[in-house]
Amino acid sequence: MKRSLILASLALLCCIFPTEAKKKATEPAPVPEKKIVVIPVETENTQLILHANVYGSLRTVHYGQKITDVEQFTNFYLHTSGKRYGSALLTYPTVGGVNVGTTEALHVKYANGDHNTELFYAGHKQTQKANVTVTEVCLRDTITDLQIKLVYEAYAKEDVIVCHSEITNGGKKAVELINYASSALQLKANKYLLTHFHGSWAEEMTVENELLGRDVKVIETRIGASATKYNNPAFMISLDTEEFSENKGEVIAGALAWSGNFKLAFEKDYRGDLNIVSGINPHASTYQLKAGESFVTPDMIYTFSCKGAGQASRNLHSWGRNYGIYGGGKINPTLLNSWEGAYFNFTTSTLTGMIDNAAAMGLEMFVLDDGWFGNGKYARNDDHAGLGDWELNTEKLPEGIDYIANYAHEKGLKFGIWIEPEMVNPNSNLANQHPDWVIQSPGRENYQSRQQWILDLSNPAVQDFVFGVFDRTMQLSDKIDYIKWDCNRMIHSFGSTYLKDQDRLYIEYVQGFYKVLQRIRAKYPDTLIQCCSSGGSRVEYGQLAYFNEVWTSDNSDALSRVKIQYGTSLIYPPFIMGAHVSAVPNHQTKLVTPLKFRFDVACAGRLGLELQPKDFTEKERVLVDRCIASYEKYRDLIFQGDLYRLVSPYEDSERYALMYVSADKSRAVVFAYSLGYHHGEKTFKIRLDGLDGARKYKVEELNVDKSCWKGSGASYTGDFLMYSGILPVQEYTYDSAVFYLEAE
Ligand code: DGJ
Repeated sequence: MKRSLILASLALLCCIFPTEAKKKATEPAPVPEKKIVVIPVETENTQLILHANVYGSLRTVHYGQKITDVEQFTNFYLHTSGKRYGSALLTYPTVGGVNVGTTEALHVKYANGDHNTELFYAGHKQTQKANVTVTEVCLRDTITDLQIKLVYEAYAKEDVIVCHSEITNGGKKAVELINYASSALQLKANKYLLTHFHGSWAEEMTVENELLGRDVKVIETRIGASATKYNNPAFMISLDTEEFSENKGEVIAGALAWSGNFKLAFEKDYRGDLNIVSGINPHASTYQLKAGESFVTPDMIYTFSCKGAGQASRNLHSWGRNYGIYGGGKINPTLLNSWEGAYFNFTTSTLTGMIDNAAAMGLEMFVLDDGWFGNGKYARNDDHAGLGDWELNTEKLPEGIDYIANYAHEKGLKFGIWIEPEMVNPNSNLANQHPDWVIQSPGRENYQSRQQWILDLSNPAVQDFVFGVFDRTMQLSDKIDYIKWDCNRMIHSFGSTYLKDQDRLYIEYVQGFYKVLQRIRAKYPDTLIQCCSSGGSRVEYGQLAYFNEVWTSDNSDALSRVKIQYGTSLIYPPFIMGAHVSAVPNHQTKLVTPLKFRFDVACAGRLGLELQPKDFTEKERVLVDRCIASYEKYRDLIFQGDLYRLVSPYEDSERYALMYVSADKSRAVVFAYSLGYHHGEKTFKIRLDGLDGARKYKVEELNVDKSCWKGSGASYTGDFLMYSGILPVQEYTYDSAVFYLEAE
């Protein structure tokens, strides 16, 4: 199913529906022939029920486990069926009418200055194609010609429902969209435990759990680009509990697919009901919708689990693998990235030396990071110059990129290269030639961040340029297999010399980004592309429709990575996480961690190395080669298997354990880490999960001569491993182990 994008089109998308709610008097009587309508949106195990009463008020009356006879909802929801408005929250709450005090999904200002919109059900249709059922529900305002289509795509096997709204101005005059959320979801429980993700550079996806009180909790970003730096547009809600649980209880997870400003509002109202409104952040983004135009909001992705957060994550991971992530399900190569090993200081021989080592270690790709472009006074020899001037630095690399790419291919490696096409250093030819392409507020200081400015992607000329950067880089050699696309700053002093309406900038920046990516994917469907943004500042499902993976964090310290990778895995599949072994003392945290611990942490994602490999001692190389070789044995489980988090690094135990299990439950890999000193408490009992209780599995510890668990090498039933568990010795900080399981 193609993912929705924002479009402004002249099509009147709601014409397919009957028009009985249109242009009625202000105080209508119930329409006698009208009936209560129950609309089930179903997956294999879950169900979202929409309910329109006789007056056409649409409510979401259930999101949870599947109920066989949905007609029962007709009677159950009687208390809303006798009134036009009822008191319960509406599915897509608007500003206007009796909807006061509720966080709205839609706020429209009409040409006559009126701010009131009242939406009523006007028809629906459902279509099914293989695994996906699409439900479209049409709502109309009582007196204006505003039409809303709520679209729900239900992915049966994944238990995921993706929804968005389409807002059409069917009138003759332009209207202003002041707020235009993708979705609102209403829930009824006694307690709501919100799990959300905040952070900053080098500490992305920090997990926070908080019990929602009677108020509105808002999670948002207004920074425009690098939008997930401080908050991620995703959450989990655990119902009727104060404790986050991997395996128990009802959990709803949600994630917005949008690479710009977002807003998630969680309103617990006076009844105790929860109204979750998610979408583009309306901050400085009032959208003029001309007569006949439609606005399509980004996708909001939901899943429901009655088996705790673990199943909710697995549902999202499966959906990502099958639908949401470009190239999902394919196995991406292991790699050596030049950044922390060479930074800007390299020549061709530095790189070919790294390639030799990468090949000898059994890696599959070499990635040349920042520093290969810009010439003369704008040579990119540090981060003060060169961004925007995407010509080969002929002084540094006189042999050219083609030579290096060929060298890699001859050694059996793929080749990748870094670009940051949305950016420009003031010290560059591009900044001199196209000052108007820079996002800026005329007359004000144009703030720099990392000595760079950001280009105005709302401008089609800039879109052409950014596409051209990618395209021309790909022409440097026909051996380029992978592009690392970086984005190292947010938007300050927002303003566009191109746009007439400045309110459009935050939105059209993202639309411009997607337009470029669509062109790239049309021309380069097989190129692997990593989305990097100072590490993980652009980790969300909007960009993942085009990118194969992310650079999870610039923090490559294994101890920090435990929490970053754990947090990311709650919403995003681990196979997208670039996870690199780097040198010690770590360049970000200065921590010195054992090489084995660094490998065991990186091997739980897409393994890479980011250091100068010639610095390894001979003894270290034995371990390095061994860990890379053994990764081959189980990495399909990371890309295609199911993740079970066994012990959380946020618990007091100072331990972390996780495992991946193949879909047929015949193979698994377990990772266990000690994150602190355990005061003589030698063993760490880990109960496994996701196995077939009746089958016997041979358990073998990898990458060691002598296992830390006496039981390694023998076979055990799945029920023993799950209900009793394994007992490795993990007493000291940074003790770690990887166990491989194969059914007999
Ligand atoms: C920031 C990225 O996150 C790093 O991995 C590296 O690519 C640098 N940019 C290069 O400037």
